[in-house]
Amino acid sequence: MRVFNITIAGFGGVGRATAKLLLSRRERYRKVYGADVRLVAVCGSRSGLSDPGGLEAERLDTPAAGLSAPDFVAASGADILIEAGPSDFRTGRPGLAYIRSALAAALPTIDLVDYSLKGCELLEIEGILNATTNFLLDAMTTKGLGFDAALQEAQKGGFAEADPRNDTEGWDTACKLLILANFGLGADLTMDELAVEGLQSVTGDRIEAWRAEGVVPKLVGSLTCIDGKFRAAVGIRTYPLSDPLANVRGKDKAIRITTDAMGDTIAIGSGKEPLATAAAALKDLEYILSARVAVPVSISEPSS
Ligand code: HSE
Repeated sequence: MRVFNITIAGFGGVGRATAKLLLSRRERYRKVYGADVRLVAVCGSRSGLSDPGGLEAERLDTPAAGLSAPDFVAASGADILIEAGPSDFRTGRPGLAYIRSALAAALPTIDLVDYSLKGCELLEIEGILNATTNFLLDAMTTKGLGFDAALQEAQKGGFAEADPRNDTEGWDTACKLLILANFGLGADLTMDELAVEGLQSVTGDRIEAWRAEGVVPKLVGSLTCIDGKFRAAVGIRTYPLSDPLANVRGKDKAIRITTDAMGDTIAIGSGKEPLATAAAALKDLEYILSARVAVPVSISEPSS
């Protein structure tokens, strides 16, 4: 059976959840892909663990100080790196340093565009791509919570970034939009080409006005394609209650893709975090496994 050695860089909530989920799915990987998937190393910003034979779940709670940094990842013997840490969107660090040190780094996959809408001409994308800002706007407009109190809830929930300005000022949405545009749609946009508006301009008066008008505000990353040219922006858009995007509540996220032939396709994500993010990373891992093993075997047991 072919062995796949995995290293996870970034060992906060998402990294830990990914490690545990990966270990719990080893039997699935054996049956479906004929792959012996081993977690050979994990590391956070200051500590980590490695074992060429594979780490077990009970060892994950005791990382050793000093086992970290790109050199540690490079020495871990990984075939596949799962990068699960926070990154500064200006420099890409520390995630970029780990990815550069890896020979086999996976790019994010844009499944909906890649598979479900294949062949269609894409006209527009609107995405509620950031859980924190959706949660904040929802809490401020429907529960009457102030910005600071709502942000504390988001931090307690573990989905706000360590520096929440990455969320509240729209940068996380902008990063996700750029990934979608550049890797999913073949655009070549840079952050400088995006107008990025966050929640800074949301005041009590604006909230009252939206309420009076009967519309729901959302922080949206939008991408339009005009004559083959992409334009991207991040800002607040308002929607009538009849619009599905108005009903994406709390920390849920959503995307609406408008194409020439299939009209609107909407996906709404409401997974429990950090499990949902871990599962999304491992979904990408399964695409890599299926591309690398010659003949995937069936998940069903032979009926002898
Ligand atoms: N801070 C991010 C969010 C976490 O609120 O969506 C998930 O990318």
